[in-house]
Parts: sequence; structure tokens; C-alpha cells
Amino acid sequence: MDVPKIVTELPGPMSRRYVEESKRYEPNSMSEQVPIAWKKAEGAVVEDVDGNRYIDFTSGVLVTNIGHCRPEHVRAVQEQAALAMNTYDFATPQRVELAKKLVEITAPNLDKAIILSTGAEAVESAIKMARRYTRKYEVIAFHGAFHGRTYGSMSVGGKQGVKKHFGPMLPGILHAPFPYCYRCLWDKNPEDCGYHCLKYLDWLLETESTGDVAALVTESYQGGAGSIVPPGNFMKQLYDWCEKRGIIFILDEVQSSFGRTGNLFAYEHFGIQPNLLCLGKGIGSGVPISAVVGESRIMDALEPGSLSSTNGGNPLCCAAALTSIDILLRENLSDRAARYGDAMMARFENMKERFEPLGDVRGMGLAIGLELVKNKRSKAPDAEITKLLVDECWRRGLLLIAPIGFYGNVIRIAPPLSIEEELLCKGVEIIEDALMAVTEAS
Ligand SMILES: Cc1ncc(COP(=O)(O)O)c(C=O)c1O
Repeated sequence: MDVPKIVTELPGPMSRRYVEESKRYEPNSMSEQVPIAWKKAEGAVVEDVDGNRYIDFTSGVLVTNIGHCRPEHVRAVQEQAALAMNTYDFATPQRVELAKKLVEITAPNLDKAIILSTGAEAVESAIKMARRYTRKYEVIAFHGAFHGRTYGSMSVGGKQGVKKHFGPMLPGILHAPFPYCYRCLWDKNPEDCGYHCLKYLDWLLETESTGDVAALVTESYQGGAGSIVPPGNFMKQLYDWCEKRGIIFILDEVQSSFGRTGNLFAYEHFGIQPNLLCLGKGIGSGVPISAVVGESRIMDALEPGSLSSTNGGNPLCCAAALTSIDILLRENLSDRAARYGDAMMARFENMKERFEPLGDVRGMGLAIGLELVKNKRSKAPDAEITKLLVDECWRRGLLLIAPIGFYGNVIRIAPPLSIEEELLCKGVEIIEDALMAVTEAS
């Protein structure tokens, strides 16, 4: 396969032009990615406007799980576009079939689904459902969480950068530490700490809460905070903690669903069944669509007209999502994510032994995080080398998402789940070469 193939200086002249015009006509508020403009993408290959071809380890931003622009997926969009694109809240076969499909493929307690447009909207909606159902208003959320950029989703978020100077946030949100074991707040060990983060929740209830907790919202692994995977059976214990207290458990699987972690849904790893499940990104593999799948006792507490939106459930996105889910299931892409994820983790663990700046390697399936530090002993975050690494990979023909994490020192590895083994191996080799180059230069 003739990828990667770099045919111009980087960035090429056309990319430079679009990036400059973007700076002129668009605000700074978007994340800063490597300075290229995409022309097209197919499977796990991206071509920029200058004809440079890259291996894709971004999937957009963990979106195109089935691969970019699969012909069957494209056809579904084209065919539906010729029939009807917006019907507001009038039913369509596509919307109803998608709701039914989501109910069928998720946990048995989840018996209704509402189709929406963005991940943030799904989280907002789940919070509204929990509040309306319980008639309480407090929501427990976690430090480091990323749930989106609208007010409700931002308020349950726990990352400073997303919220800075946008305050005040939604009242009634109680934040608690998430088990970021590589940098434990209490210098404890997950093997024998008895999950101190859970004990903190009891403390939160006894101190800050007024006894009005409606829900707890959490990601299955924290994406934006730096691919932070909860230890052992933490999630199961967290879920049990909520269930015991009648607190609605909202699981934000906007990022971790549709095969990404090696199971169709990440909750399967934890042996839990959330009360409300937020889905996005991979559900449509590229079209703007999201959903909340939940228990009807909760969802039906909302009156007609209290939750829907102009573009939510439009037939175009629903048709695309139905096809995308079909491909994902038919090709068993979650298994592929598990297999490839394990193989990649082994390679990265090996690199960790050899490269001083690679402080931690963690992940689930094909959602892997590499945390870079000045040295392993101090664990001091190294945002500079992290950015250099992304640039080095780009120059060698591998696209990565810009660094994330509390300190901007985590690289996310997230190829489409359908990526060919050859491209996956080439991509890992590029990371290894780039890691060697930045380590030597540091
Ligand atoms: C876990 C999680 N929740 C919610 C969102 C927000 O999704 P959207 O950008 O579609 O609003 C994201 C986006 O990255 C996410 O990763």
C-alpha cells in the first residue's frame, strides 16, 4: 500500500493557504491540529489538499470507527439524501428503526432511545431526564471529565481549560476525583488503596451534598483528561454505590462505544448496566448524530415537547448510523479493536522500557494513551516533547490528534477499527522512530 506518501514540503502550499484563511476567517476556539487541510479520506488513509497521504490514527476524533467513507456508508447517505433530510419530530422508518436497533444491542434494562445530534446534547439530555425523574438537582461528576462544551455538559466537565472564564457554571454539580492512578492525589496504589476515590464520594455526600443527588455522570475511561482507564473493578463498585443510594447512573459512552474499547460498549467490560447511556461519535461514523438509550421509567417522565431538537433524529443521519452499526456488527470490529489494541499495547509497553520520556501507557482496545514526561522518576509532564512527537509523526506520514490531558502531555492512538494490519504496524513503527528522534533531541 502506497501510504504514507509525502509529495510536497510540509505543510504543502494549498494546506498553508487554507490554514492561513482559517486563521483569518475562523475564531481561535478550535483545538490546534497539525497545519494541513484534509481533502479526502478512505478507510484509514487521509489525503490532504496537496496530495500527501497519511496513515490515520485519529478517526476524525474517535468517530469513524468503521473507517472513513466506506462505500456502503456513503451510499446510505446518498440514497437517503434523495428521499428526505429533515422531518423534525415526525416519525420516519430510519429514526424508529435506529431507536429499536439501539435498544436491541444495548443492555436489557435500556428499553427506549432518543436520537439527537451531538455528544454534548446527549449528556445535557441525560441530566435533564435524571433531574425530571428524580425531582432532585444535584449531579456528581469527576475531575478531569470531558462531556462537551455546552453549559450543562461543560458544568459536569472537570477540565479547567474547557471552562475557564465561562462561569458561573450550572449550580448543583459536585465534583470528585477520578482514579488517575499514575498521578494519584493521595500517593496510593490501586492494588491496595481500597479505592480511595470511592470513599471520597461518601465524604462528598456527608459534606457538600444537600441530599438532593439525582445522578452521577462518568465517562467509561476519561478521554480528554488523557485516556485515563479506571482500575480493576472500580466502575462496578461505583455503579453499586449509586444503585444502593438510588442515584441514576449516567454513563457517557460518546467516545468509548461502538467497538472502540474492544467491546461494542465499554460497560460490558465492567459488568454493569447504566440507567442512562449517552452515545455519539462512532454511532454514525462521521455524520452528526448522538443518542441517549435509557430506562423508560426515567425517559418517560418527560412530557411531550420537553426534549427534542430541529436536527435530532433526522433521517439522513439515522440511515447512515443504521448502516454504520450494521457494518460494525457484521465485521465484528469490536473483536478486531480488542486484538489490535492488545498487540499495540504490548509494543508501547516495550517502548516504555526503552524511552525515558514515555512515562505511562494505558488504554482499552483501540483507544490508547501515551503520557510523556521529563523523566520517569519525577513524572514531570512534558508538553513540549509531546507536541514535537505529534509533529515528527506527521512529517513521517502519520496523523495523530493534538495532545490532550490535564497537562497537554498525552497522545491518543485511535485508528479506525477497520484499519489494515499493515498500516497499523507502519503507524506504530513511525511512532517508535519519532519517539527515538525526540528522545535523542531532548
Ligand atoms: C466522552 C465525551 N462526551 C461528550 C463529548 C462531546 O461530544 P460532541 O463534541 O459531539 O458534543 C465528547 C467529545 O469528545 C466526549 O469524548
